[in-house]
Amino acid sequence: MKPSASAIEYYKVVPQQFVLPLTSQSVFKRSGPMAVEIGFGGGEYLAFMAKKNPDCSYIGIELPPESIARGSKLMQNQSIENVRLIHGDARYLLRELFGPQSLDHVLMQFPMPWPKDRHAKHRISSPMLAETVADVLKPGATFELVSDQQWYAEDCHRFFCENTAFTVAPFETAPHRPFLTRYEKKWQADNRETFRVVATLNTHQSAPRFFLNSAMDFLTITSTPTAEHLSSLVNKRFAEGNMSAQVKEVMSIEQGFVLRMVASDDSFTQFFYTRLRTRKDGNCVISIDDCPYPYYTPAVRFAIHQLQAQLV
Ligand SMILES: C[S@@+](CC[C@H](N)C(=O)[O-])C[C@H]1O[C@@H](n2cnc3c(N)ncnc32)[C@H](O)[C@@H]1O
Repeated sequence: MKPSASAIEYYKVVPQQFVLPLTSQSVFKRSGPMAVEIGFGGGEYLAFMAKKNPDCSYIGIELPPESIARGSKLMQNQSIENVRLIHGDARYLLRELFGPQSLDHVLMQFPMPWPKDRHAKHRISSPMLAETVADVLKPGATFELVSDQQWYAEDCHRFFCENTAFTVAPFETAPHRPFLTRYEKKWQADNRETFRVVATLNTHQSAPRFFLNSAMDFLTITSTPTAEHLSSLVNKRFAEGNMSAQVKEVMSIEQGFVLRMVASDDSFTQFFYTRLRTRKDGNCVISIDDCPYPYYTPAVRFAIHQLQAQLV
């Protein structure tokens, strides 16, 4: 059975529609502790925790949109009210969406290890994760990783030990687990081991954020470009520092054009649409479409400024 649209509407949070950082009050309309699970998979563990701790508000972050749909259905079936789900890349969103000292627990269970060196940038566990957690956790609160990959858990243990903000518990093998995740059940059926890292934050440490805290730019050019001119920009790559941008497709609409675009800040990649609309005075306005609304990052701003520069 497919999850109902109302389940997704209720459980899915679209942070672009909120003033950041997210708070328990803004998302759940109540105060109290808040925890995040990174890569919640089917959401079974989130549901378990949410029922066990009804006063705590839980936010899950996952990459595939189907996980948001599946998780919403599970929460709805179990009538859970203290969970919300966010679609996106937790490597960036944990830091960008949550404020300093706002979380009471950050949990990550069986993340994808990305064992090949050339894929290492996809790993969620990194010194940057420890920096992020040192900012978003409340002092005294804990970060927890459970993994089936000893080397991955050992790396994570080292990243947190090397960050002086934390006290890290001794590396655990075969920890006691009150509830097994879906992935963990399969793993244990094969008699394979699990490993756990628990780090407690002693001292808050600030971490820089890069999402822009301003309204999106509206740019103007003196006339509407031709379809040929716009088409000549398709797949041309604009880059500066850690930002890159491309126009992927040009579509004509009644009053101008819609361009499908992609912009990346490091490996935080977003697809979005830019509208070129001809005004009555003949000028053409360039603006970012709100469906889907990208996070306003330096690369998104760079993308539309590059477009303007190409079209003047
Ligand atoms: C092996 S599964 C484990 C799922 C679940 N925690 C469990 O134990 O059953 C790893 C999960 O991490 C998610 N994931 C991978 N990279 C991610 C990222 N950058 N941000 C958020 N989720 C991510 C994947 O989509 C996948 O669902």
